[in-house]
Amino acid sequence: MPFTTAVADCPFKIGHTPLTSYRIKLGAHTHELLVKEEHCNEFGSVKDRVAWYILSKTIEKTGPVKAVVDASSGNYGNALACICERMGIGATIVSSASISAHNAAQIEGSGARLVIAEPKPGETANAARMRVAGEIGQQDGSVFLDQYSNPLNPAAHQNWTAPEVFADGPFDAVFMTSSSGGTSRGFADYLKAHPSRTQLCLVEPESSNAFLDSPSGSTEKLKIPAFGSQRRSSFAGMKPEPGMIRMDEASALAAFTLLHEHGLSKVGLSSVGVMLGAIEWLSRQDKPSRVVCICADGDERYLDEIEARYIPSVGQEAYEAARARLAPVIAGMQRMATVKADAE
Ligand SMILES: Cc1ncc(COP(=O)(O)O)c(C=O)c1O
Repeated sequence: MPFTTAVADCPFKIGHTPLTSYRIKLGAHTHELLVKEEHCNEFGSVKDRVAWYILSKTIEKTGPVKAVVDASSGNYGNALACICERMGIGATIVSSASISAHNAAQIEGSGARLVIAEPKPGETANAARMRVAGEIGQQDGSVFLDQYSNPLNPAAHQNWTAPEVFADGPFDAVFMTSSSGGTSRGFADYLKAHPSRTQLCLVEPESSNAFLDSPSGSTEKLKIPAFGSQRRSSFAGMKPEPGMIRMDEASALAAFTLLHEHGLSKVGLSSVGVMLGAIEWLSRQDKPSRVVCICADGDERYLDEIEARYIPSVGQEAYEAARARLAPVIAGMQRMATVKADAE
């Protein structure tokens, strides 16, 4: 992707997020697992980077814009709405019924318009959001930023998130969820341009099809916002193909509440899924390893809906069984230090 940017010019507190180190003993080896705490960005997620990057590059290219529209599962919409409010730009965010209550409230609180897209028969939630956002852009003249297909989305990570993360390398592997593929494509492009021994591994639930078909052909609905995606990513086709680890949502929920109870972490649900994928990978290694997880957002977006929405979505029994299985693993994690806190 051919873009470079002066991200240092970003007027918001985005980037230079902390990297927290955990020691974890699995079998005969003790590993280091690092967590890139993207919830520490000003508007609370890794999507702050993408919203600023796409908007600023668009303005740079076309001149000032009055109003923008885009599709989002929630975090990008939250970031874009807050940035637009500060910059005096109108914003329409098209999301799905699965948006978290936290993100919906933030978007509406910033003065942006929130539209919930209804999928047509056979259409994924993600595709419905894209369709409706495009239609609104055509109808009211708002600039459609098109994050799900815009090469500026992966470019934000290739030029900003990845160099920041790898400055604290080397790592044996880097883990993230696929979602709509922006982060993973950006990291893949970065690793292609900077060959290293680091493996790129995506973590997602069984029924996600973002880059590879679901191994079981499952079409069961995804339960955690942006943890995997049922639409093939517009950024698919990366070479070499990334490693893929399937992680069930009941385990992500169980580890989320366990990490919280132990006061070990404040990352969000997809991020905990990613950490579990990394732990699974580490448990298969025959030597001590050092890995990093890109943790997209924070627990504040999920805590108020854990009991009433997320646990019932996977079933109490599956959740309790996952908790029993994961309790010793989480208890064996030791939080060490923040490798880098707000460096600049
Ligand atoms: C909770 C969460 N995890 C992960 C991601 C990463 O998704 P992507 O790489 O498609 O931007 C997002 C993006 O919206 C997200 O909201």
